[in-house]
Amino acid sequence: MVRAAITAVGHYLPEERLTNADLEKIVDTDDEWIRTRTGIKERRILRDETKATSFMATHAAREALESAGVDPGSVDAVIVCTVTPDMLFPSTAALVQTQLGATNAWGFDLSAACSGFLYGLSTGAQMVESKRAKRVLVIGADKMSSIVDYTDRTTCILFGDGAAAVLLEADEAGNGLIDFVHRMDSSQWESLSMPGGGSLNPPSHETIDNKMHYLRQEGRSVFKLAVEGMADASVEIMERNGLTADDVRYLVPHQANLRIIDATARRMGLSSDKVMQNIERYGNTTAATIPLCLYDWEHDLKAGDGLVLAAFGGGFTWGASYLKWAYDGAERVAAARQEDATSIETAA
Ligand code: ACO
Repeated sequence: MVRAAITAVGHYLPEERLTNADLEKIVDTDDEWIRTRTGIKERRILRDETKATSFMATHAAREALESAGVDPGSVDAVIVCTVTPDMLFPSTAALVQTQLGATNAWGFDLSAACSGFLYGLSTGAQMVESKRAKRVLVIGADKMSSIVDYTDRTTCILFGDGAAAVLLEADEAGNGLIDFVHRMDSSQWESLSMPGGGSLNPPSHETIDNKMHYLRQEGRSVFKLAVEGMADASVEIMERNGLTADDVRYLVPHQANLRIIDATARRMGLSSDKVMQNIERYGNTTAATIPLCLYDWEHDLKAGDGLVLAAFGGGFTWGASYLKWAYDGAERVAAARQEDATSIETAA
C-alpha cells in the first residue's frame, strides 16, 4: 500500500522576541504567573505591517523544498492551514503558490485553528495515497499578533507568530501517515472565537468598538476541554493501532499550555523525554506549533520512528494522528548545514 510520508520540513520564525518581561510593561501580569500557568517564556512577533501569513508560509515552504532538493514547479498542491489568512480572499494558499513559484499547484486554505495542521496533513496524505498528487505541501502558518488584543492579559500572553511546512510524498517502505482521529463540535464555539469580520458580523464601527476582530477565549473552560480532547484522541489512536508507550518515539503535541501537554503525555503513559515541547520559546503559534516541533526535532528522527501528533483548538476541533517518520533527520540536517557553510564561503 502507498502511504504519504513527510519527506522534508521547513520553518520560518520572525526575529523579534516578545518576552514575559516585555508583557509585564503592557498588561498587569508577571513572568512567574505566565511561566507556571502556561510554560511560555517568550514568543516571536512579525512586526512588519507589510508582511503577513503568506510571507512566513512561503519561507517555510521554500526551506522544505530546498531540504528535499525539489523544484517548486513539481508541487501538485499547497494547503495552508491558518486562522490568520492575509485576506478572506484570495486564499493564502494562492498567494504562497505564486510567491513560491509552484506554478503547477492548486490549493486552498484550511481553517481548523490549532488542529489545522492535523486536518491538513490527513487531507494532503489522502491526495498522495489516492495518487491524485505526487507532492503536496502542508503548511501551518499564523500571524496571531494580528488578531490578539494586547490589552487583554488573559490571551495576549499566549500567542506568537510563526510558520512551518512539510512536504508529503509517496512512501512504499511502510512509513508515513498510518491513522488519524479527527473530531469537531461547535456547540460551545463562543468559548474560543474571533466573531468579527465574517459574514455574520461584517466589519463596522460597532465590531471595532466591541473588539470583535480580536480572538476571545474563556481560558478555564477551554483548558478542561483541551485536556480531555487531546488525551482522549491520543489514547484512542494508540489503542486502535495496538501501540504501547514503547512504540511511540515522540508525542508531538499542539503547544497551547505545558499543563495540557503534560496531562496528555501522562494519559498515554509517556515519560517527558518522549514529548516534543518548545512552547517556552514560541508560545502558541496555532497551526504552526506541530510542524515547528517536527522542525526542531528533525535532527533526532530516524526512519520508522513512531510519532503521535495531537491537537485541540477553536471550533472546537481536535484529534490525533499516528505516523512513522520516513528518513534520517540527522543526515538531512548535517547536509543542510554543509550547504549553508558552502554558500557563505561562496558569497565571501
Ligand atoms: N497574569 C496574571 N494573572 C492573570 C493573567 C495574567 N496574564 N491572566 C489571567 N489572570 C488571572 C485571572 O484574572 C484569574 O484571577 P481571579 O482568580 O482573580 O479571577 C486567575 O489569574 C486565574 O485565571 P484562570 O483563567 O483560571 O487561569 P488558568 O489557570 O485557567 O490559566 C490559561 C489561563 C493559561 C489561559 C489556561 O486556561 C489555558 O491554557 N487555557 C486553554 C488554552 C487552549 O488550549 N486554547 C486552545 C488552543 S488556542 C486556538 O485554537 C486558537
